[in-house]
Amino acid sequence: MKFTADRLLLFGATGDLAQRMLLPSLCALDADRLVPADLRIIGTARSDHDDASYREFARAALEKYLPDHRKPAIPAFLERLSYQPLDASKLDGFAALAAKVGPVDAGLAIFLSTAPNLFEPTIAGLVASGLAGEKVRIGLEKPLGTDLGSSCHINDAVARAFPEDRIFRIDHYLGKETVQNLLALRFANILFEPLWNAAHIDHVQITVAETVGLEGRAGFYEGAGALRDMVQNHMLQLLALVAMEPPASFDATAVRDEKVKVLRSLRKVEPAETVTGQYRAGAIAAAAVPGYDEELGKPSDTETFVAIKAHIDNWRWQGVPFYLRTGKRLPERVTEIVVQFRSVPHSIFAARGARATPNRLVIGIQPEENISLSLMAKVPGLDREGIRLRSVPLDIAMDDAFAGPTRRIAYERLLLDLIEGDQTLFVRRDEVEAQWTWIDAVRATWTERGLTPKSYTAGSWGPSAAIALAERDGVTWHE
Ligand code: BG6
Repeated sequence: MKFTADRLLLFGATGDLAQRMLLPSLCALDADRLVPADLRIIGTARSDHDDASYREFARAALEKYLPDHRKPAIPAFLERLSYQPLDASKLDGFAALAAKVGPVDAGLAIFLSTAPNLFEPTIAGLVASGLAGEKVRIGLEKPLGTDLGSSCHINDAVARAFPEDRIFRIDHYLGKETVQNLLALRFANILFEPLWNAAHIDHVQITVAETVGLEGRAGFYEGAGALRDMVQNHMLQLLALVAMEPPASFDATAVRDEKVKVLRSLRKVEPAETVTGQYRAGAIAAAAVPGYDEELGKPSDTETFVAIKAHIDNWRWQGVPFYLRTGKRLPERVTEIVVQFRSVPHSIFAARGARATPNRLVIGIQPEENISLSLMAKVPGLDREGIRLRSVPLDIAMDDAFAGPTRRIAYERLLLDLIEGDQTLFVRRDEVEAQWTWIDAVRATWTERGLTPKSYTAGSWGPSAAIALAERDGVTWHE
């Protein structure tokens, strides 16, 4: 049902995500008058704040995380905030929360980011206090389970209170401008689509590299690891956007119908098609950093790096490997998709000594937003000693191409879509389940084979086995 909420209820309102992302995003949207004029934001968490002290808490976060040009907007934004302390494990606090939220007949958007064990009691509290009615939609932040079974359990609990069209599962990668631009590149240009298949593409690489380590998240990360933290959600969503068939329109049903078909077509991986690693002490940007086990304070089998050779079993992608890799404490922060095209079927220049390199499309998602297509060109000259060809890039730097429009961070887009009720950039239940089905099978092969992560030095590109995984096929990771 379409409605624009005039209230936003933020669970986890004192948490890290709220401070770093949610409050700054909402303040930026407010500064640009993009949220409803009468929007009220109610924060809730265990911490004991009243409205005034929560506003001070929010002010400190905004001073820290907002860019300077946004800071004049802080005082007016704080006026929208109020706060209700809540122990979500107990039903009796929800009546006071509902009283604080007030009437929800115009529409309430809930942003729920909570520990997995609080999902069910929170949903029960929302239902009991009248905060789950027809004019209420709910945004769910990960982690939403650790495998298919626990994910279904959470989804079932939410589904008992909210229909799917009012459930907004967040994958913040979908809120990133360049991720959406992938769809524009594929479906607003005639150039690529006729070539976007096994006949013309040799392989695809998706890299999500981070320089950060545990960042004080040991409790969560130790139970997750790179496969569940990054591949299950963000990387499989990127893969689905690269591989899906053209949807009939850019709407929630059409886009998600196509993504889920890809996710269901993922072939079960063989043990030899995955490599896992865990970082040891090393250096990043010339600064020494400790190993994972040292940060954690004990030995562990959790992977901080994973590389996978994935296959999509459908007509379009038969025989085209998708190489995925992600890791913490890698040499640089970079997220990119590389589409490696095949060679020309016959090189007319070969007899004159020239070698043609196959075209390559590199889509940079972060930190730089750019698209680079390598094309072959003739090196200028009289060619007395044969023709020389060289690959030259056709580059689009998004910052230069679009100097005017404000760059918005992912949560600005997602919070606005949650308030206004557009599900296109949120993940549907069947997608999540297809993602977990594939991920669980990967983990099962690790357990069966007793595979444990190989060591890699912080500041390197992961264990050497990850390089071998691609090089066995004559493929070099793009760096
Ligand atoms: C989160 C993961 O989902 O994504 C983190 O839990 C990771 O471990 C983060 O650091 C990366 O997000 P981004 O937007 O910085 O690429």
